[in-house]
Amino acid sequence: MKATRPPLITVTWPWPLKKLDQLAKGRVRFQYSDPSKKAAFKKALQESEGLIVLLNHAVREDLLAGAPRLKALGTYSVGTNHIDPVACEKRGIRIINTPDVLTRSTAELALALLMAAARRLPEGEALCRKGKFKGWAPDLLLGLELKGRHAVLLGEGRIGRETAKLFHAIGMSIEFITRKDKAIDIRKKLGRAQVLSLHCPLTKETHHWLNARRLALLPQDSVVINTARGEIIDEKALIKSLASGKLFSAGLDVFEQEPLIPQALRKLPQVVLAPHLGSATRATRERMLEIVVEGTISALVN
Ligand code: DGY
Repeated sequence: MKATRPPLITVTWPWPLKKLDQLAKGRVRFQYSDPSKKAAFKKALQESEGLIVLLNHAVREDLLAGAPRLKALGTYSVGTNHIDPVACEKRGIRIINTPDVLTRSTAELALALLMAAARRLPEGEALCRKGKFKGWAPDLLLGLELKGRHAVLLGEGRIGRETAKLFHAIGMSIEFITRKDKAIDIRKKLGRAQVLSLHCPLTKETHHWLNARRLALLPQDSVVINTARGEIIDEKALIKSLASGKLFSAGLDVFEQEPLIPQALRKLPQVVLAPHLGSATRATRERMLEIVVEGTISALVN
C-alpha cells in the first residue's frame, strides 16, 4: 500500500526549516517559497495544503485560484486585512492569525510613540546626532506633560484596552470610541481628545476614518498615535493638520502605502516615525511563529 505523505505547508518567509520541523513533529512538511519569484511560487501554491504568509502578502481570489489543494491559511500577524475572507470561506480554507501574543508589545510601542511625540524626542535626537546641542536652555524643545491629559482610543479590543492601562498608569484619563457610538458621541469625544490613539482593524468602515473633518474636531495641540493600520488615517489630511500647527505631533508605526512614507511626512521634524514595529519584540515574534505554525498544522491534521 502506498504511504500517504504528510500535508505540505509553504511559508513565504525563510524561517529555519529545522525550527519549523521541530514544531511540526513529523505531522506536516514545510517548504519556503518567495512570492516575488512568480513561477516558483505558483508551483509551490499548486502543491500546498497549507500556506503561511506575512501581512504584506495579499491573499485574494487570484492567488487562491492557483492553490487548489489549500485548506489552511496562516498569517504571521493579528491583522487579516490582506486576506479575502469570503474567497477563503467559499473554498473551505481556514484562516489562522496570531491574536493575544502581541497585545502587550503593541501597547508598549503606542506608549513609547506617545512619550516620544509629546516630548519631541526625534528633534532632540537629531540635534544631538548632528552635533548641534549647544547647552541647556530654558526654551529648548519644550514638549507636553502627559499626566492629566485626556486620551481617546478608537477601538476597545485587546490592544486598545492594554494601551489604555498603560496610558492610565502615567496619569491620563481615558475613553474609548466604539462601534456603538453615534456620530454625535464621536464628535464630542474627538472634541476632547488631547491624545487620539487608533486600535481598530482596517475594514471598509475604518478606511480613512481619521479624515480632515475628524482631524478638525480635535483640540489644538493634540497628539495622534497609530499602531493599527496606516489606511485608517487619510495621510494627506494628517500631514496638512501637522504642518498647519493644529496637531502638536503624531507617533506613527504604520503608513498608508507601506513601506512608502511620503516625503512631506518625513520632513515634519516633530513626527515620530517607526517602521511597523508594534509586535517587534523577540518574545512576541517567537510566540507568533509558534501560534501560526501550530494553528495551521492543527487545521490540516485534526
Ligand atoms: C499585526 O500582527 O497585524 C501587526 O501589525 C504586526 O505584527
